[in-house]
Amino acid sequence: MNVKIFDKKFNKNNISIKTILFLIKKYNTPFWLYCAENIKNKILQLKKFDIIRFAQKSCSNINILKLMKYQGVKVDAISLGEIERALTAGYNPKNINDIVFTSDIFEKKTLKRIISLNITVNIGSIDMLHQLGKISKNHNILLRINPGFGYGHNKKTNTGGENSKHGIWYKDLKKSIFLIKKYNLNLIGIHMHIGSGVNYNHLQKVCNSMLLNVLQPYMPKINIISAGGGLTIPYKKTDSIVDTNHYFDLWNKTRNILNNFFKKNIKIEIEPGRFLVAESGILICQVCAIKIIKNKRFVLVNVGFNDLIRPVMYGSYHYISAISSKGRDMSNDYKTKTIVAGPLCESGDVFTQLENGEINFFMLPKVNIDDYLIFHDTGAYGSSMSSNYNSRPLIPEILIENNIPKLIRRRQKIEELINLELC
Ligand SMILES: Cc1ncc(COP(=O)(O)O)c(C=O)c1O
Repeated sequence: MNVKIFDKKFNKNNISIKTILFLIKKYNTPFWLYCAENIKNKILQLKKFDIIRFAQKSCSNINILKLMKYQGVKVDAISLGEIERALTAGYNPKNINDIVFTSDIFEKKTLKRIISLNITVNIGSIDMLHQLGKISKNHNILLRINPGFGYGHNKKTNTGGENSKHGIWYKDLKKSIFLIKKYNLNLIGIHMHIGSGVNYNHLQKVCNSMLLNVLQPYMPKINIISAGGGLTIPYKKTDSIVDTNHYFDLWNKTRNILNNFFKKNIKIEIEPGRFLVAESGILICQVCAIKIIKNKRFVLVNVGFNDLIRPVMYGSYHYISAISSKGRDMSNDYKTKTIVAGPLCESGDVFTQLENGEINFFMLPKVNIDDYLIFHDTGAYGSSMSSNYNSRPLIPEILIENNIPKLIRRRQKIEELINLELC
């Protein structure tokens, strides 16, 4: 088939069209496709940090977790489900800090499991201190501090400041330390994740705030400072690439000051989701209908915001490329303004939209029915945020490693959805 590789700059995983067409034939569209080598490369870029902890909410497939574990990456869990996923992937709470549970609440069943497995908890509320402290003496904890400000690529991803539900308000730190001592909890670290899409100016502010909060006479000797996640990736061609060395240097300077203060070696932990997996993933779908409304060209595909919610939720941009189903090379085709939308019974089910919900467009070749579209950089908060809205089953996930594709989640069956309700 004489088709060219899609836009080189956005074929970040070097996957050929031939491979994609082979997978389409084998599994049908739509599906998620990840590249293991891309993830390994991202891990390498963070090797200076003492601990890399994967925020599994970004892509929680057990096979991705296994890959992380094999590469020496630890894991974060925010629910009982995520704890069970980590355990299934082989993480062992007996290895100190293999799994850290980060949350602002305990659900009863989750707390029971945490205590029985002795899982370290990153505490996000004073109530959690009481609830854990009363029943589990000497439990290892970190405190997640809301430093009073936040940052995010969207206000919904800003996790700091007075409008955020996350973390312990910085003014409550002294009270928290008092409770930790009262309950004999073991404070091993301080954590700050202020949001996703962090830039260096804000990062400096976070480092300064870490110092301000930790350099207090009442602060016990800690072992770890956690920088949280938030490292960006270039979704657009014009987006810059995060300088991980600079990122590390800022945190390293912070750590050195704390080392002097506590007279011990403190570890720096980083907790990315997006940075590790976003660029490894693409979403492949098929064109089902084309409508011209006034002068607007709508291309409707077989995935909706039940599969990929980021554009609807945040107005997020994903680069889109096209593959002809007829083997036609479209790489030099004239590009036209195209609105790309899904099948859901929701007018907002549009992938090309701005943060305020206004319809936008993407410049695409004139695709036809049955051609394929690829949404790029969808490895993070793609599959893991999918739902069954409109009773649409979850779609398969495939991982390519050393050029060998492996199905890592099969397509959900409609009967499986229906069976849940036959009780
Ligand atoms: C506590 C915590 N850590 C890490 C992350 C990962 O963020 P990102 O994927 O932007 O790196 C999140 C994201 O919501 C988070 O809430």
